[in-house]
Amino acid sequence: MAAILRAPFRIAALSYCRDLLKITWQDGATSEFPNIWLRGSVRDPRFFTASGQYYQNAHTSFISKESPIIRVGNANENEDVDIEWEDHRSSFNGSWLRAQDMQNNDLLRKETEITLWDANFKFPVYNYSERMAKLEHWLSDLRRYGVAFFEGVPPSQEGLDGILHCVGQPFQRVHPTNTLVVATDKTNVEAIDRDVYTTEQHPFHIDAAYYDVLIRLSCLVTTRYSAPTRDTFNYWVDNLTAIEKLRQEDPEAYELLSTIPVRFSRKRMDVQEECDPYLYHFDNTIERKLISFDRAERRHPTVYISNKQAATMKKFYEAYNLLLTKLDDPANRQTFLLKEGMAAIFNNHRVCHARSEIHPSTERCLILGFLGAETWNTRWRVLYGEKSGLDDKWLYGCSNEQLEILADRKEQ
Ligand SMILES: [Fe+2]
Repeated sequence: MAAILRAPFRIAALSYCRDLLKITWQDGATSEFPNIWLRGSVRDPRFFTASGQYYQNAHTSFISKESPIIRVGNANENEDVDIEWEDHRSSFNGSWLRAQDMQNNDLLRKETEITLWDANFKFPVYNYSERMAKLEHWLSDLRRYGVAFFEGVPPSQEGLDGILHCVGQPFQRVHPTNTLVVATDKTNVEAIDRDVYTTEQHPFHIDAAYYDVLIRLSCLVTTRYSAPTRDTFNYWVDNLTAIEKLRQEDPEAYELLSTIPVRFSRKRMDVQEECDPYLYHFDNTIERKLISFDRAERRHPTVYISNKQAATMKKFYEAYNLLLTKLDDPANRQTFLLKEGMAAIFNNHRVCHARSEIHPSTERCLILGFLGAETWNTRWRVLYGEKSGLDDKWLYGCSNEQLEILADRKEQ
């Protein structure tokens, strides 16, 4: 049986005058649509292409003509609204009309489900073979928790691509490959970036750069693991848990960290990178001098701190150190042993990650790929569009919020 429209999307009554359509919905809300807006929004083949564009001349001459509404009616088992003008007749999807009325729709938007977690939380582990069947589950986990785990992953580029391609095109990183090899293979040291990846404990960080680069998700796939002496563990921490604990313990520190940016990204000092002139950057992993430039000043970004600022910054550094203790607190962190065939995909806007030290006898290789923020965003748009069950012509041009509303228009 076809799923039933929820009350906010069911039309209770229609009324109109020459310049306005008014819809009363089953949830009691009313929406008003000006005639000029309706004419500008028609989705008929006469004016609108299958790929989502208006025929410019035909559409412009249509909307520039003054033509009052002469009749409205329900159609398609009350899902659509038919509108008749003197010069044309068109059909509008009712759910789509409801979603357009954003002044009325705050209550229709679901709160993004966020679950704070700590060391005791039990994460679901997905099997690689169900990555598409359970796509919405693990994508939602990346919002709800910030990380999703897989087992049964081909320990190769195929496995990495198999996960990343569920979302979209991997982030372009280094020509000619977008895959970073993270290895301890002593026979292949040349390929390893020793400056930023040593066998020491790897501190908590995010993979996005400290300037506004668009990496959103990272995916690690273990392709080889042998640890005869001591295991190497990966750690994840929920930033929100760490921040919430800090807020409760020291509100002043929380306030400082809320107003002065903290970046938990790693930096590569041997390439030029842009930075904002008045941000303070912290570097856990490298002692090499910062080489970068200030886009505004076109010169070395020396930061001068006045005496007054220095007093503030002293407190700020203390607050920052307090936050680091929250990240390092074993009570907050999830510990995973990423053996061969396991993978973790994580949301750099939500979690920090780290790794324990690597024993010299360990052979361990992981490959790492990224997804950009826009790819992540687009995948959600497509997912919402598919869930809505609406024809593409109603999805084109919808905001993210409108698509989210439309995805939830039917009873589950
Ligand atoms: Fe990392």
